[in-house]
Amino acid sequence: MPGSIINGFSKLSKQEKIAVLAGQLGDATLGNELQSYNHPVSQERFNGFSENTLANFYLPYGVAPNFLINGEIFHVPMVVEESSVVAAASAAAKFWANHGGFHAEVISTLKTGQVHFTFSGNGDLLRKHWPTLKEYLLSNARLHTSNMEKRGGGIINICLEDGTADITNYFRLNVSFKTVDSMGANFINSVLENMAESLQEYCLIHFTNQDECNVIMAILSNYTPDCIVKCWVEAPVSAFSGMDESISPYRFVEKFETAVKIAETDIYRAVTHNKGIMNGIDAVVLASGNDFRAVEAGIHAYASRSGKYKSLSKISTSNNVFLFSFEAPLNIGVVGGLTSSHPLAARTMQLLGSPDAKQLMMIVAAVGLANHFSAIRALITKGIQKGHMKMHLANILNQLNASEAEIKETKLYFAAKHVSFSGVREFLEQFRK
Ligand code: MEV
Repeated sequence: MPGSIINGFSKLSKQEKIAVLAGQLGDATLGNELQSYNHPVSQERFNGFSENTLANFYLPYGVAPNFLINGEIFHVPMVVEESSVVAAASAAAKFWANHGGFHAEVISTLKTGQVHFTFSGNGDLLRKHWPTLKEYLLSNARLHTSNMEKRGGGIINICLEDGTADITNYFRLNVSFKTVDSMGANFINSVLENMAESLQEYCLIHFTNQDECNVIMAILSNYTPDCIVKCWVEAPVSAFSGMDESISPYRFVEKFETAVKIAETDIYRAVTHNKGIMNGIDAVVLASGNDFRAVEAGIHAYASRSGKYKSLSKISTSNNVFLFSFEAPLNIGVVGGLTSSHPLAARTMQLLGSPDAKQLMMIVAAVGLANHFSAIRALITKGIQKGHMKMHLANILNQLNASEAEIKETKLYFAAKHVSFSGVREFLEQFRK
């Protein structure tokens, strides 16, 4: 229902905000419903995570157990609303725990930030000044980087890039950072904003009005192609016997290989194929209190790095060995932000044995690969709807408040039938009569 403009909404108290919205909605039950989703102890903390908080939006916090990753077992928390994602991760974890587990490696951990600016003078003049300007920027930044340096991070490099071929007078500073165990967004953005000021100062001191420098913006980049984790599983083809009764292990591996190759050539398939990886990645990223939007943006950009959006995963089946891998940028941390302040994110870290950022990258990648493996396995054998429909039926029964006996009967009845909300409701109505 469209409403009318509410002036000064953010200045109202929570109760007032709810009252105004309920008034526009013409539904007095809104307040009680929202109130019922408030936390009895930690609501103040949740309110503080965002603005205009009215309640909490619940999502399931589940666990996919028995992930063998680099020789260690992890029971991995996942926050996801899509039924069967946790089940799919768990099934793959179980299978691979019996076949050597997941192997993972962090290839690199550099992040990038940028100061975008225009310089109306001669580019050669700017380039001539670059060595002294760079030193000036670095020494001014030290105030903000010294703590991070003590922890082993800081600024790794700064480059001046000339963008005048694309936009008149446009230049940028590309700054690479190491942020150790934090995702580093606040650190990077603070350093960059300070650097932008230093850049302006330097230009005022050293250049004339004709060589004016104007900062457009200073911000980290969510494209992190130098913050990469790689994950893989491998097993002899014979390991896939019994994977599905309708198919031999050789045929299974052959179809699997073709499925991955299709995602290297066809963008419609590639996006969905990669979404199967993101099912696992997002769920663990969210459970750990990390920024899943940043991860999503970075990973999809990485999938397009060749100029064409492609599969993130690769497969090889030479010498009868199935080797399935993927690599992707994962800019996540284990300290700072929600990772420390959300009570369940803290529990996630505890359940994962207090990993450092690199270990968390490897765990997240393993769950991504697990979900991806399960998705392709289902797609090339029985399809995904059977598993989905089971969960769908359970959800419908839940919504219709079915009793234990009703659940049992309905599941039996729909075992080999198409599941729809109306079908289940009709069946229950008959059964209840
Ligand atoms: C559904 O959430 C994910 C899949 O579509 C992934 C895929 O198609 O590979 C099953």
